[in-house]
Amino acid sequence: MQSSEVVPKGSHSHDKPEVFLEWKDLNFSVLEKNSAKRKFMAPVIEKKRILQNVNGHAKSGQLLAIMGATGCGKTSLLNVLAGRVGRSGMAAAELKGEVLVNGKSRDDKGFRRISAYVVQDDRLYPHLTVYETLHLASHFFLPTSVSDDKKEELVNSIIMELGLNKARDTIIGDERVRGVSGGERKRANIAVQLISNPKVLFMDEPTSGLDSFQAQSVMEAMKAVAANGRLVISVIHQPRSSIFKMFDDLLLLSLGRTIYFGKAAAAAAHFRTSANLTCPPLFNPSDFFLDILSPDFRTKAKEEFTLKRIADMADIWSRSEKKLIEDETLGRVYNELELVPDVPTCFEKFDSTRLVRNFKLLCWRAATEQLREIPTMVIKIVVTIIFALIIGGIFQNLGYEQAAISNRIGLLFLISINQGFVAVSGVLQVFPKEKVIVGRERSANAYDTLSYFAAKYLCELPLNLLPCTIFGCIVYWLVGLNPHRFGYFIAILMLEAITAVSLGLAVSAAAPNPEIAQALGPLPIILSLVFGGFFINIASLPIVANWLPYVSFLKWVFQSLSINEFTDVTFKCNLTPSTMCANTGEEVLNRLTFTSTLGESCFGLAMVFLGFTLLAFIILERSSISYIPMGYKGPKFNPNAIEK
Ligand SMILES: Nc1ncnc2c1ncn2[C@@H]1O[C@H](COP(=O)(O)OP(=O)(O)OP(=O)(O)O)[C@@H](O)[C@H]1O
Ligand SMILES: [Mg+2]
Repeated sequence: MQSSEVVPKGSHSHDKPEVFLEWKDLNFSVLEKNSAKRKFMAPVIEKKRILQNVNGHAKSGQLLAIMGATGCGKTSLLNVLAGRVGRSGMAAAELKGEVLVNGKSRDDKGFRRISAYVVQDDRLYPHLTVYETLHLASHFFLPTSVSDDKKEELVNSIIMELGLNKARDTIIGDERVRGVSGGERKRANIAVQLISNPKVLFMDEPTSGLDSFQAQSVMEAMKAVAANGRLVISVIHQPRSSIFKMFDDLLLLSLGRTIYFGKAAAAAAHFRTSANLTCPPLFNPSDFFLDILSPDFRTKAKEEFTLKRIADMADIWSRSEKKLIEDETLGRVYNELELVPDVPTCFEKFDSTRLVRNFKLLCWRAATEQLREIPTMVIKIVVTIIFALIIGGIFQNLGYEQAAISNRIGLLFLISINQGFVAVSGVLQVFPKEKVIVGRERSANAYDTLSYFAAKYLCELPLNLLPCTIFGCIVYWLVGLNPHRFGYFIAILMLEAITAVSLGLAVSAAAPNPEIAQALGPLPIILSLVFGGFFINIASLPIVANWLPYVSFLKWVFQSLSINEFTDVTFKCNLTPSTMCANTGEEVLNRLTFTSTLGESCFGLAMVFLGFTLLAFIILERSSISYIPMGYKGPKFNPNAIEK
């Protein structure tokens, strides 16, 4: 193979691109259990090499595409290059090699500041328009020293750059609400990342899930972004031939090894001359590459054949690559790169103006999202009314006979559980998805957790209190509960609703993804029930679990509702002997062992509310993503493990 076919020899040796990124001998391995092989009954632990000796380089003004079969290590490579390999789950992993930025070892934190990463399943607030999303991002990601006019100008220029003008005032949308098209949503995601004017843009499969026309429009926008002097590195899946033509450079991976790295236009010639594999005429080269790079595990013979072909191609490449890369980087004069973006985005210093402005913007966003969710809210309220009418109908006009005592207790118990579940599940449906966006914004230092948390709480408060108030108003009067204590009844339900919301937020903040949050949600409610003294006598709990009833919010709610209901009421005695009767509410409370006052009981509930709120805040504050550096070796990584 001629080197000129792959990388035009020394063609860029003396120009000075703004960013020149080089990666050398990248190796990324994890230990994995192989359940097919066992030693002394236990599965054998093997070393899986996700990336093997991967080399390459890229510079500003270029679009580098990374392609390969599924599972070959594309996302892993992109993460390594971006310095964004998450620390979680990396206890048995090792990352070796070197990433250089303009000739110097990469300063990960600084590099993350001048680069942006568009992940595959990026989310945006669904009810905001494209313009509103970018307008907010401009305020969150740019400092107060940049004037509002300049921010507006920047937003408009990015909208133009990414061809989003037509969709400017359309809402983003999601699975539930119709919004912009898939391609426009992807471009809106990229636009948000461009607000801070990154010098390097990493993208993981920006066209997946789009039809070929939308994919084309996204990649055209990317080409324009690169042409404006940024470096764009993108993992891409099945590009159509017109998209393939847009790539400047191409990196082909298979089973974690480089099969080709160089000019995209010269790739087909490389396989023809070096491995005698010819791309048929009128064939999309990317399809051809995927065909020859994909291992085929359908039959033993096919597996052996394809694995050998891949190993041969990787060997051919590794023999030729050293010289090519040296040719490209030898004698290079690097730009002096400052690791601060053109528009500074580092907000380490305290800035009260920014704090106040962020709080207002966050309130506006939370309120707007809620107000545009009105159809969902209406459905929730209708369901609440129907449910309240059913419960009220079943328990209506309880009266003050002896039988009404247990009915009242049963009703209060039911109300406690129902309102708790409704409030927690309401949060679990929305917040885990929102957390993904907030986590991304927080890790880019867009705002502080306290501003976000306070804004969210305040703006969502009316909506969190509305269902329980409606429910309480209907049930209370239909059933005929203690006529003098309606206000307290509603207040207890409101306190319960916000406590349950805080619990939902804490669970969602702690859960790694929305699915786990949904699955975990009922657990604290069940525990709250179990340790609330409803099913087990608190006195018989083991000493280590003695404190649990105090954090059971359902216990406090039920106790408060009971004290409220049975204060200053008398019951008719129609039983014989009459000693079996409870003549006053106080006697009922004594039987329930609720001896505290309503104030004490509500104080207990308020403390649990504060505890959950604080817990949710702390988890959210501490859940910022952390990344592993180059040269990382996890504590559980054993370099001597056998290779897979
Ligand atoms: N933390 C990890 N622990 C164990 N295996 C991992 C880990 N991260 C990645 N892998 C494995 O490494 C391989 C490469 O993963 P990666 O996500 O980089 O592939 P990919 O080329 O992006 O695939 P796709 O096209 O499906 O997105 C896969 O087999 C994956 O299961
Ligand atoms: Mg991937």
